This record gives sequence, C-alpha cells and structure tokens, in this order.
Amino acid sequence: MSTHRRVLVTGARGMLGTDLCAVLKDAGHEVIPADIQEFDITDGPSTLTFAREHRPTVIINCAAYTAVDQAEAEREQAFRVNRDGTRNIAEAAADIGAPLLHISTDYVFDGAKPGPYVEDDPPNPASVYGASKLAGEEAVQETLAQHYIVRTAWLYGIHGKSFPRTMLNLRLKSKPLRVVDDQFGCPTYTRHLSSILAKIIERPAYGVYHAVNSGSCSWHELAAAVLRAAGLSPDIEPVPTSEFPRPAPRPANSIFDTTKLQQTFGLEPPPWQQGVLDFVARWKEEQRL
Ligand SMILES: NC(=O)c1ccc[n+]([C@@H]2O[C@H](COP(=O)([O-])OP(=O)(O)OC[C@H]3O[C@@H](n4cnc5c(N)ncnc54)[C@H](OP(=O)(O)O)[C@@H]3O)[C@@H](O)[C@H]2O)c1
Repeated sequence: MSTHRRVLVTGARGMLGTDLCAVLKDAGHEVIPADIQEFDITDGPSTLTFAREHRPTVIINCAAYTAVDQAEAEREQAFRVNRDGTRNIAEAAADIGAPLLHISTDYVFDGAKPGPYVEDDPPNPASVYGASKLAGEEAVQETLAQHYIVRTAWLYGIHGKSFPRTMLNLRLKSKPLRVVDDQFGCPTYTRHLSSILAKIIERPAYGVYHAVNSGSCSWHELAAAVLRAAGLSPDIEPVPTSEFPRPAPRPANSIFDTTKLQQTFGLEPPPWQQGVLDFVARWKEEQRL
C-alpha cells in the first residue's frame, strides 16, 4: 500500500509549518502549503473552497493565534482563530473526507501535576491562549471522527522567534542573562516534531497524542545548553518565576509522557539535546550568511 499523501499544511509559513512542509516533501509526500495569504482560517467559506479545490488526502493544521501574553487582552481574537478557525478546518476536512491532524499545546494543562502529563489527564488551562487551544481541540473532536490531536510543547525551530534564538541574540549583545529555573518541560525541535507528524499520518490510529523530544529540563538548563552548543558562555543567573511576572501564567510543569505515541507508531523521539545541536548548527550557518 502506498503511503504517499497529498497534504494540506495550514500555517505553512510559521515556525513549525515551514519545517513541516520541507520534511513532508523529503518523505515523498505532495505538499499544499497554505497560510493567511491563501485563505484565512477564520473565514469558513474560503477555507471550504480551498479544501474542495485542492482535495488533499490529509490536512495538518499548524495555523494558530500564538501570542500567549497578548491573548490575555485579545480573548476574542484568540478564540476566533484557535477555536472557530480550527472548527472551519475540521468542517472542511469532514466535507472532503480527509483526516485532520491538529496541533495543540501543553497550555491546555495548568502545570500543577507532580509528574509527566499523559493524554487522559484532565485539561485545566490557566491562560486565555490555553483555553482557546482547548476549545480548538473540542471543536475538532465534535466535528470529525478521523482526527489526530497532537499536543506539543516548548517548540523552537530555525524559522521564527524562539527562546533559544532569543538567548543567542542576547548573549551576542553581551546582555546579562537571567532565566527561570522553576518551570520544567520538554524542549521540542520543529524538525524532529515534523518527522514524527510525517509518520503519524501514515497510520489511521486516530486520537490524542503527546509528541515532544525525550528528556526534560528547566528553561535555565535549556538556555545554558544552547549557549554551550554555540561555544558561548553559559553563564546565566537562575531566577524564580515570581521575578518574571507576565500577563499569561506559564505551567510550572509541562513535561509530557510520550508512551502512547511510541507504542502506537513505533516512534522514538530523539533526546532534546540533539535538537539543540542541530538548531545551533543551522543558526551558525545563518550567522555566516
Ligand atoms: N511555539 C510553541 O512553543 C508551541 C508550543 C506548543 C504548541 N504550539 C502550537 O504549534 C502550532 C504551530 O506553532 P508555531 O510556533 O509554528 O506558530 P507560528 O510561527 O505563529 O505559526 C502560525 C502560523 O499560522 C498563521 N496564522 C495565524 N492566524 C491565521 C489565520 N487566521 N488564517 C491562516 N493562518 C493564520 C500565522 O500567520 P501570521 O504569522 O501572519 O500570523 C503563522 O504563519 C500552533 O498550533 C501552536 O499553538 C506551539
């Protein structure tokens, strides 16, 4: 049986979407990239028209309102994109009979659990962004049976703003660095996640999955690892979250258990440190351009 797919990727020019399109092509899939220029996911008729015209055999939704702090003041817009836009994509997928892989987030949890989060843990978002993403998950579940909801966390990649890039930029400007050491998660490299997504769509094992690189650390440990990989000083002052008040609360624990993903798809996510090394190698190339 051929595993070739015709994949519509929404949010194709975002941080994850850009790498995903490249990885899907490398895996032999046909890719239809779409971002806000092609159609706005909050526009139901345009979304449906695009899907009917292009007839993908699977849709991966990476489009989202991702401004976590801004969402606290823009609740309506966050829900318009992350809930209503997601529902529009789900309805379009149902209309053309294509399964939908929807990307979600650790922010659906409050971070209070003492151990790693499994898929069945009850969500309890503490921020507007998290609530809007949870509403998006529910919209998918209500709209079509053939869906994968893939929750990821602490994402970074070469095509966009990210925590590792910020750390490198600040260090190059010789800024003293202070980074929180009491929030824990699984730093996840967009290229690694993209390879996982490319595998998931090969099997109709629908459901909710947690997909992150393996291992976990604090933001402070991540920052130090990034700087070390770049040959820069990893000297960073560790500080508690209470010293960094932000509009949206961050989950203290964003660590995911990926057993379900591993057992269902026979996948083994690479260690997070491997993602850091690849990211920094690409960042160095970019610096030389
Ligand atoms: N970044 C993280 O740490 C993280 C962690 C966990 C989960 N996630 C999830 O991972 C997914 C990808 O995130 P990302 O970091 O790659 O985000 P991103 O870089 O912000 O990409 C999102 C893309 O969606 C587009 N978009 C926004 N509103 C749209 C609309 N109404 N219609 C069509 N396209 C629209 C954006 O275009 P504009 O740039 O023009 O707005 C952007 O190209 C999202 O579902 C996010 O919730 C991210």
